Amino acid sequence: MTNNIVWHPSTITKQDRQKLNGHKSCVLWFTGLSGSGKSTLANAIQVKLHQLGVRSYILDGDNIRYGLNKGLGFSKEDRAENIRRIGEVAKLFVDCGIITLTALVSPFREDREQVRNLFPEGEFIEVYVRCPLDICEKRDPKGLYQKARRGAILQFTGIDSPYEAPLFPEIVIETDKCSIAEGGDTVISYLKGKGII
Ligand code: ADX
Repeated sequence: MTNNIVWHPSTITKQDRQKLNGHKSCVLWFTGLSGSGKSTLANAIQVKLHQLGVRSYILDGDNIRYGLNKGLGFSKEDRAENIRRIGEVAKLFVDCGIITLTALVSPFREDREQVRNLFPEGEFIEVYVRCPLDICEKRDPKGLYQKARRGAILQFTGIDSPYEAPLFPEIVIETDKCSIAEGGDTVISYLKGKGII
């Protein structure tokens, strides 16, 4: 498939772009159940980064399924492709020098590990947004758990499709125990501690 295709190196590098921006770039890969707070947390962090003068962008699973990933469903294969594509897009954004926040359920360890392997050490930061299923189900912001319980949605994560929690996430945010602002501060402190911002 890659026959006769030659990689063109860019004269301006990721490091040049990071230098221009005044900060490093990385991917913050938020994973967790639907309703755990991934998008809310990513948005709160983006506001803080923006206020700090840091360039960032959110790749939200729901939003990307409207465009680039239109046509992908929720089978194991389609989710793998969804995550693979967003992983590749995140890699481009990180190459642009941008702190890239992805908010996808990304329930399978293997799919997340494949994305991790696209990045050099330290550039892929897995953020496990942990929240018990019963609380996510009570929140049910989109009414989807209710639909899944009555069989109107199949293969719904946590109901009839598994969620594999990360074994060694860089960051864990427990959204049933801390506020979104506190969770956001934890991530910002991590980025500062690692010298990324
Ligand atoms: S992923 O599994 O491929 O990473 P993604 O994050 O893009 O999922 O999309 C999940 C969102 O789609 C959920 O927040 C929910 O709003 C919606 N959704 C619709 N059907 C399902 C399903 N069967 N399982 C999980 N989420 C679903």
